[in-house]
Amino acid sequence: MRNSRIKIAPSILAADFRRLGEQISEAQAGGADLIHIDVMDGRFVPNITMGPLVVEAVAKVATIPLDVHLMIVEPERFLRRFADSGADIITVHVEACQHLHRVLGQVNEVGCRAGVALNPHTPPSSIAEILDMVQVINVMTVNPGFGGQRFIAGMLAKIKRLRNLADALSAEVDIEVDGGINPATIGEAFEAGANVAIAGTCVFEHERGIAAGIDELRAALPASC
Ligand code: DX5
Ligand code: ZN
Repeated sequence: MRNSRIKIAPSILAADFRRLGEQISEAQAGGADLIHIDVMDGRFVPNITMGPLVVEAVAKVATIPLDVHLMIVEPERFLRRFADSGADIITVHVEACQHLHRVLGQVNEVGCRAGVALNPHTPPSSIAEILDMVQVINVMTVNPGFGGQRFIAGMLAKIKRLRNLADALSAEVDIEVDGGINPATIGEAFEAGANVAIAGTCVFEHERGIAAGIDELRAALPASC
C-alpha cells in the first residue's frame, strides 16, 4: 500500500549519468517525491561529484523539488549559485559551518528551504539551539562520501531524539535518513521518526528498474507509518 506521508528521495549519485534525464523521468513516474543531489568537494568528504551545472541540468527535467545536499567546506560561498541553478532545499553540514546560524539564514534568503545534515558522530544537541531555523534535518546513516555503504543502526536512537526535540518545539521539520536505506532498513528508520528516505543504490540499481526500487521501499514500510 502506498503511503503518501512518507517521501522517497532517490539519490542520483547511483544513477547512470549517460542517461540522467531519462532516469529522472523514470523516478518521477515511479512515484519519487524529491530528487536528491549529492554535491561533494573532495575536501569535506573524500570524493568529488557534481556541482551547480548538474543541478541546472536536472532542474530542466525535474517536476518535483530538488534536494541539494552540500558535502562541501564553506557552503556559504555557493548558496546563491545553487539556488539559481534550481535547488529547492539546500542542506549544509553542521561540521562544515563555523557560523551555522548565519548560513541557515542565508539559505532562506536565497529562497530555499534550509536543511542541516549531521554526520554519524554529531549529536542532536549540536542543532538544538537552531532547530527553529531549519525545515529539514538530514541524519547521515553512513559516513558521507560514497553510495552503497551499510546503514549504521546506532543512528536510530539519534533519529528518535531529534524527532522528540522537534516535537517539543512544535517545529514542522522533515527528518531525512541518508545512507544505506533499502527495504530492510527503511522501516526502522521511519518507526524512529524519519519521514523522508533518501536512497541511491536500491533505487537506481534495482534489477527490475527504478520504479520497482521505489515500490519495494514503500512496500517495506510498516503499516503504522
Ligand atoms: C552519501 C550520500 C547519500 C548516498 C546514498 O554521502 O549523502 O545520499 O547517495 O546512497 P545509498 O542509498 O547507496 O547509500
Ligand atoms: Zn545525500
